[in-house]
Amino acid sequence: MTTNMTVLITGANKGIGLATARQLGGRGYTVLVGARDPERGREAERVLRDGGADAYAVELDVTDEESVARAAKQVSDRYGHLDVLVNNAGIARGDGTGRPSETTLATLREVYETNVFGVVTVTNALLPLLLAAPAARIVNVSSEVGSIGIMTDPAHPLFPIASVPYPSSKSALNMVTAMYAKELRDTPIKVNAANPGYCATDLNGNSGFRTPEQGAEVSVHLATLGEDGPSGLLWGFLMDGSDSYGVMPW
Ligand SMILES: NC(=O)c1ccc[n+]([C@@H]2O[C@H](COP(=O)([O-])OP(=O)(O)OC[C@H]3O[C@@H](n4cnc5c(N)ncnc54)[C@H](OP(=O)(O)O)[C@@H]3O)[C@@H](O)[C@H]2O)c1
Repeated sequence: MTTNMTVLITGANKGIGLATARQLGGRGYTVLVGARDPERGREAERVLRDGGADAYAVELDVTDEESVARAAKQVSDRYGHLDVLVNNAGIARGDGTGRPSETTLATLREVYETNVFGVVTVTNALLPLLLAAPAARIVNVSSEVGSIGIMTDPAHPLFPIASVPYPSSKSALNMVTAMYAKELRDTPIKVNAANPGYCATDLNGNSGFRTPEQGAEVSVHLATLGEDGPSGLLWGFLMDGSDSYGVMPW
């Protein structure tokens, strides 16, 4: 089954990104597998193709403007439009015990380069192609630890976490999401932030209690929203014991 729909997923060579590529490939999307390392990208392309997906590796380092521009040109030359962009690439870093007072600027900059500046770079480079699609979707893979509402709620299980680089980068990404949704509100494009929940990937030493496939369900839902779907939300796994998905507080 093919749908003539194209999706570009950053950081799609492993983890939640690869699982998202597999699921959207299974739904007939042509999957452009963003990977900063060409070899890892080709390997993911092979794995996805073996699974029946129409997948193509695209070299893309979200922190490198030239790499992003090259990737955008490739998509433009080949398809002339893009139906879905999943800003999935992300990193987590910490200093010392991870407490805010031990944060170094080097770490903060490194995390923001990927998780925040990278998303803006990629989105702006691809926006003309997204606007050229009938009704594009942008999914920014965020996190519940970026929710100021959740992280300051003493009753929430995540309350004990106090760290600056990763959580604050995802808070910034949430605002980035809300602002793009606002700018694009009179277009058919929908822009939402995804919370995959705590998934076992290399990002966290594979300590998560959800699988990457379960995490990817959230991105896939937001990538395939219908015309009446929402825009400008943080949506995903609710860590409230209900084992369900829903809208989360910013
Ligand atoms: N796992 C969780 O529990 C969890 C929870 C909430 C949110 N998230 C978010 O989910 C997203 C995916 O993370 P994951 O858990 O699947 O982690 P992962 O397995 O470590 O995958 C991260 C992906 O991002 C790529 N990446 C990192 N820096 C990049 C760059 N500069 N340019 C392009 N790609 C880059 C990595 O490529 P390389 O292989 O080359 O390093 C890899 O493909 C991230 O945004 C993360 O913050 C994860």
